[in-house]
Amino acid sequence: TSLADYARGLPKAELHLHIEGTLEPELMFALARRNGVTLPYADVEAVRAAYRFEDLQSFLDLYYAGASVLRTAADFHDLTWAYLERAHADRVLHTEIFFDPQTHTDRGIPFATVLDGIHGALERGRRELGIGYRLILCFLRHLPEAAAEATLDAALPHLDRIDGFGLDSSERGHPPSKFARVFARARTLGRPVVAHAGEEGPPAYITEALDLLKVVRIDHGVRCVEDPALVARLARERMPLTVCPLSNVKLRVFPDLAAHNLLTLLRDGLCVTINSDDPAYFGGYVGDNFAAVAEALAPSRAELRQLADNSFEAAWLTAEERARCR
Ligand code: HPA
Ligand code: ZN
Repeated sequence: TSLADYARGLPKAELHLHIEGTLEPELMFALARRNGVTLPYADVEAVRAAYRFEDLQSFLDLYYAGASVLRTAADFHDLTWAYLERAHADRVLHTEIFFDPQTHTDRGIPFATVLDGIHGALERGRRELGIGYRLILCFLRHLPEAAAEATLDAALPHLDRIDGFGLDSSERGHPPSKFARVFARARTLGRPVVAHAGEEGPPAYITEALDLLKVVRIDHGVRCVEDPALVARLARERMPLTVCPLSNVKLRVFPDLAAHNLLTLLRDGLCVTINSDDPAYFGGYVGDNFAAVAEALAPSRAELRQLADNSFEAAWLTAEERARCR
């Protein structure tokens, strides 16, 4: 087998996946038709042609607009199910997915509608595909902390189906410190927390996520290389980084995949993992990300296996689930 096929076929966990970012243009049009929503695009090709991004914000503008076709629990179910079928084909045994409730509740969609649809599909995926899962509620950092507090309040009646909390959306100008109070409250609920940091933001945002939010993983984190003491700390603490290679190229964090630093970080002893972020927008699911890394960076097979093993190390697995993923 080629190195790329070897990488694709490794058993893996996915730990950085925004379910709204798995909305393929075909499903976007199907849901628009089902719900009587008019899209500002003529067809699927026109949507795909619009996926040329300058930076994180230019992507987020389209990502939030695309989500407007999601209205009913069935819509959220169908979105999540389509992702799980792709994940299964990429040999994902366990997935920890993000959802952005504020994107939907701010349009008048009830929190329970979103959660029922996503969670129903995740349970079906566990039963029919054998994919284990965790569901992580992300707060939108471009909105005020008070809006995150209100979202946490809305989540309280549903905590049995929410496994952790995260922080996403526009990073620049919205440091983790802005959310220190709501994260402290989330942690008192006995749930682990994560945060996007060091994608476009400076290494200081990674340090804030660690020290102020007390995250158990850093989402992205690739700008840590600008602070050697921080890199040493991340290695010493085996703090996982959920790296998203194709996303980083699409959003111009790196000029191309050959320039990506993930293999350097792996060799420095960091718990680097490979993930797809928003695969419908960035041109590939997690298997494509593994294959692209194999082709662009020429890692050894042992290094590819380490990247896949790291995903299970960093996942929130029970002892029983861990045994099943061996
Ligand atoms: N960064 C920040 N917010 C996001 C992303 C991302 O890569 N994807 C979806 N929301
Ligand atoms: Zn992300």
